[in-house]
Amino acid sequence: MPLTILCISGYEKGHDFMRECKEKGCRVLLLTSKSLEDASWPKESIDEIFYIADKNKEWEIKEVIYGISYVARKEKIDRIVALDDYDVEKAAALREHLRVPGMGDTTTRYFRDKLAMRIRAKETGIPVPEFLHVLNYDAINKFARSVTFPYIIKPRLLAGAHGLKKVNNTEELWNRINELGDEKSFFLMERFIPGNIYHVDSIVYENEIRFALASKYGKPPFEVAHLGKVFTSRTVKRGSATEQRLLELNEKVLKAMGLVRGVSHTEFIEADEVRQDSVQPRRDGKFYFLETSARVGGAHLSNLVEAASGINLWREWAKIEILRGEGEYLYPEVKNDYAGIILSLAKQESPDLSAYNDDEIVWRLKKKNHAGLIVKSESYKRVEELIESYTKRFYKDFFATQPMKERPGD
Ligand SMILES: Nc1ncnc2c1ncn2[C@@H]1O[C@H](COP(=O)(O)OP(=O)(O)O)[C@@H](O)[C@H]1O
Ligand SMILES: [Mg+2]
Repeated sequence: MPLTILCISGYEKGHDFMRECKEKGCRVLLLTSKSLEDASWPKESIDEIFYIADKNKEWEIKEVIYGISYVARKEKIDRIVALDDYDVEKAAALREHLRVPGMGDTTTRYFRDKLAMRIRAKETGIPVPEFLHVLNYDAINKFARSVTFPYIIKPRLLAGAHGLKKVNNTEELWNRINELGDEKSFFLMERFIPGNIYHVDSIVYENEIRFALASKYGKPPFEVAHLGKVFTSRTVKRGSATEQRLLELNEKVLKAMGLVRGVSHTEFIEADEVRQDSVQPRRDGKFYFLETSARVGGAHLSNLVEAASGINLWREWAKIEILRGEGEYLYPEVKNDYAGIILSLAKQESPDLSAYNDDEIVWRLKKKNHAGLIVKSESYKRVEELIESYTKRFYKDFFATQPMKERPGD
């Protein structure tokens, strides 16, 4: 009997995951939003697609349970996999309900709920910004008296920098908290730590990290999303102290949260230190845990990882889900190249990138009103140079900005 894998995705993603499952002989089912009926799903790799009505990408969990329980009258579902961050809880709830093995509600919390991951990290000695649940007024006032502003107030369960607000003083803090109404308890607040933001993308099999690659965002994602900036990221120099520290912390985080197998996109902040005796900020080398997830990173970062390492995270993840600890996991040889990605909203509907023709370009984004490239080289310096010069050119040639929405799908 072939394995039947149910993929859940409220966004169009994970094509290679489904392709790999099909190539490995699985029966592939996909549950997605009605609004994605016309998306370019890899239909040749999917046996059946089920649609669910969605309102702003939100599905009623009860409806998902009814729907999939109905499907399960005829299908024996062996695996349930969430391809997007927002589907992780739904997949866990379904697994719990149908008693399908895999990550359940408790572990899922650590990979979705930013408050749960902060508390767990702190308990295990991983550095985190001072934080507090937006709940008890006395506790909030006490926090405001002892922790230096600015703070960031963030939703526990959203992604993509949605719903984040930076506040600079007590008045702004309370204005935002009051604005949140009954949603308050779904938020946390924490000290805003200016610095560089990094991401580590990993593959975990049977509690062991089998692959991890560290990359550094150009501008912090908060600035990119809220102020409108060109988005970039690139591989961290291999063998550097920064890489070592990031990989160490990443391992601590994934062990603390209890990821048994799968993929993870985890982020860290490298704090700037402003010294009293100097105008120039200096790095104090201190890294803080920002957030983790049990999924492939968004913003085409899987393509960045593949360009640098030859590892396709979607395909490797599919192999791992199929194996589920019942066999040895062998992954392809890892290449040690460097890669950089640049993405921007474009003022033109079909931006012309023909003037970008360096040999290092290995990927081009095909999306209306967007411009994007990935470069790859054996040389760290060359990638740095290209990303820097392309960033300047992108601002001139394509850059456009639009106001950030509070929630995805608004
Ligand atoms: N405590 C913090 N200090 C500094 N910047 C932060 C902090 N928390 C969030 N940010 C900024 O906001 C962005 C999004 O926050 P994050 O917690 O990663 O949520 P999301 O799931 O939306 O990516 C980060 O990449 C970073 O730029
Ligand atoms: Mg983030």
